[in-house]
Amino acid sequence: APAFSAFTFWLALILAGFLSICITGSFVRSQKNHTLIFTKENTIRNCSCSVDIRDCDYCLANLMCNCKTVLLSTMEKTTYKSHLTIWFTDTSVLEMLLNFTRAWDLKLSFCGTTPLPTEYLAIWGLRKLRVNKVKGLFAEQSVTIHSSSNNEKEDSLAVHNKDRQMFVYISFLDTSLFNGYSLLKSYSVENVSSITEHFPSLPYSDLFSTSDNRSYVVTFIY
Ligand SMILES: *[C@@H]1O[C@H](CO)[C@@H](O)[C@H](O)[C@H]1NC(C)=O
Ligand SMILES: *[C@@H]1O[C@H](CO)[C@@H](O)[C@H](O)[C@H]1NC(C)=O
Ligand SMILES: *[C@@H]1O[C@H](CO)[C@@H](O)[C@H](O)[C@H]1NC(C)=O
Ligand SMILES: *[C@@H]1O[C@H](CO)[C@@H](O)[C@H](O)[C@H]1NC(C)=O
Repeated sequence: APAFSAFTFWLALILAGFLSICITGSFVRSQKNHTLIFTKENTIRNCSCSVDIRDCDYCLANLMCNCKTVLLSTMEKTTYKSHLTIWFTDTSVLEMLLNFTRAWDLKLSFCGTTPLPTEYLAIWGLRKLRVNKVKGLFAEQSVTIHSSSNNEKEDSLAVHNKDRQMFVYISFLDTSLFNGYSLLKSYSVENVSSITEHFPSLPYSDLFSTSDNRSYVVTFIY
């Protein structure tokens, strides 16, 4: 009997240890705030959430997150260093929020019902994209364009490859991808020295300067 109780004691201790690790782990994870931006009727809400909110649950987001209304007139292009989630219903607000901004880790959830037109949004520095189409009727899909290594500064636009060459990441996202049943796809062209020369018919191709000597990784997401 003493051997048994000693065993039980150690088992309890180990279990308690495990439990505290799990609890601390989830505590730490839920402490990390992420940004959620959603549009509803004509308002844009910018929230800081410490918990994951089910897609398109506006009430819960207003309740659980710390949200502020964003005035269109004061909105400016931002760099999103932490995980960013956007719930949107049409492309006009999405393009205001996303076109030519910087976001590393992005989740886009389509909460509308009207099919979206084909428009191209340019996103700087995108490394990982998760997509939820048509109110969760499909499973979430994702593409990873670049997995960041820890020694890379999170806020730098350019990333070094293994040969220490600098690459600037730019992604073009076709907004009609949210309509279909198709799989999310991405195609990257690496080491593009001039976007204008390589992709003359690309939308906004004229916006990329040819004078700089940076190399781009150009990704198409469709
Ligand atoms: C949303 O809030 C974050 C952090 O609070 C801020 O960095 C970002 O610029 C805001 N975005 C908009 C569109 O207001
Ligand atoms: C994206 O931004 C570029 C440059 O500001 C602009 O020319 C283009 O019309 C925008 N595209 C969309 C779909 O908003
Ligand atoms: C990128 O292109 C330049 C010039 O064409 C070449 O010198 C360099 O080796 C290439 N780098 C990679 C990683 O392909
Ligand atoms: C272009 O490359 C040269 C030499 O490699 C470097 O000195 C210069 O700073 C670079 N210019 C830009 C705009 O990156």
